[in-house]
Amino acid sequence: MSRLVIDGMKRLRGETCVQGSKNSALPILAAALLCGEESIIHNCPDLSDVSGSANILRYLGCNVSFSNGTLVCDSRGLCRTDIPNSLMREMRSSIIFLGALLGRTGAAQMSFPGGCEIGPRPIDLHLKALSELGADIKDEHGVFRCTAPNGLHGANISLSFPSVGATENIMICACTAEGTTVITNAAREPEICDLADYLNSCGASVSGAGEGTVIIEGVQKLHGTSHSVIPDRIAAATLLSCCASTGGRIRLNRTIPSHLGAVLSIFEECGCDVDIQGSSIVMDSPHRLSAPKIVRTMPYPGFPTDAQAPVMAMIAGARGTTLFVENIFENRYLHVSGLLRMGANIKVEGRVAVSQGVELLHGAEVEAMDLRGAAALITAGLGAEGRTTVEGLKYLDRGYENIEVTLSGLGGEVRRV
Ligand code: EPZ
Repeated sequence: MSRLVIDGMKRLRGETCVQGSKNSALPILAAALLCGEESIIHNCPDLSDVSGSANILRYLGCNVSFSNGTLVCDSRGLCRTDIPNSLMREMRSSIIFLGALLGRTGAAQMSFPGGCEIGPRPIDLHLKALSELGADIKDEHGVFRCTAPNGLHGANISLSFPSVGATENIMICACTAEGTTVITNAAREPEICDLADYLNSCGASVSGAGEGTVIIEGVQKLHGTSHSVIPDRIAAATLLSCCASTGGRIRLNRTIPSHLGAVLSIFEECGCDVDIQGSSIVMDSPHRLSAPKIVRTMPYPGFPTDAQAPVMAMIAGARGTTLFVENIFENRYLHVSGLLRMGANIKVEGRVAVSQGVELLHGAEVEAMDLRGAAALITAGLGAEGRTTVEGLKYLDRGYENIEVTLSGLGGEVRRV
């Protein structure tokens, strides 16, 4: 069982590039099933969730290769419509294959994706929406069999919550449905726009992505394409948290600063000096941060739930008190126990957490229990006095590409043993 060993209180300095977006690459890899030709995906991050998707694509009959950031998927050979439980379990977000399989073959069979560490992760919005597109979904004791007996047709779908995954599943499934689909209260995340760009480059007709109402005009057939994945805004927010936790000064290259609006304003409230230079973000942090009054997670463009954990870690040693409100997931404070072991003063009550900044965190042996929680423990370890060891790297490796190499390159003492 490998773990990270971190010797804290080294100011991060220097510059680095941000990885491609995990949450953009995953739906695009699923959508690659639609075109029945070759998709070349550039700037694809090397993550266990990406290899999980590649394994599902290969199981379904696609030819997939991946080398230095470029993944090539030829879905010509698609020959199955079922995804086994073993592959579903490997990656929580594999529900995204449902819309793609239905859109390409008119059939799909898979088990309910397990809940994950941060909550039950229901898929009711996905299933309801796909039924409105003409899918017939039978739940057979945890396995659902979907068919489209009369084909897929456009529909006016109103989401009760702007679910990212449900929006993506509908967009993918509706591309080759008969007629027009309108999604109201759609998710506005940048990853939705990136998926729309990929689908349109395959010949689909998707408009309004990012504006809350997405319109998809069904087309007969899609073709192959090449596409470059947008930068990972959460990986960027995580590196900025690591920097601020050490009073460091770094330059992040290959970002899209406009994707980080709500995050950068929190860093500024903490006393960081943020300078946008084209696709780079230069941030200079004070020796000790001032705690922001409130951090409430919201659908985009609000403060992203995925950045809550690393930001909480960075302000555990700030001056003042912060109220956190986690509006998106039910159980997203799993990192608090590790932070408390490091001397943080945080109280959790349901979706609310109150953090009272302490003078200095101290190193400890801690264990991650989810992806962004792992990032939080690393963030805290970098700013803490002494040595921190972080276990549970299987979670970290789902979403961060060699983060210990990146942090070491910025002067952090981080080793994987
Ligand atoms: C995506 O998850 C991301 N994952 C998550 O990132 C991210 O936190 C989340 O969007 C919100 O931004 C990927 O893109 C692979 P949702 P998703 O559907 O699509 C409830 C990370 O750390 N809901 O917007 O699953 C759900 O329970 C991951 O990179 C239903 O009730 O998020 C949650 O409370 C974690 N019914 C809320 O909506 C449904 O059918 C938001 O979920 C679907 C969702």
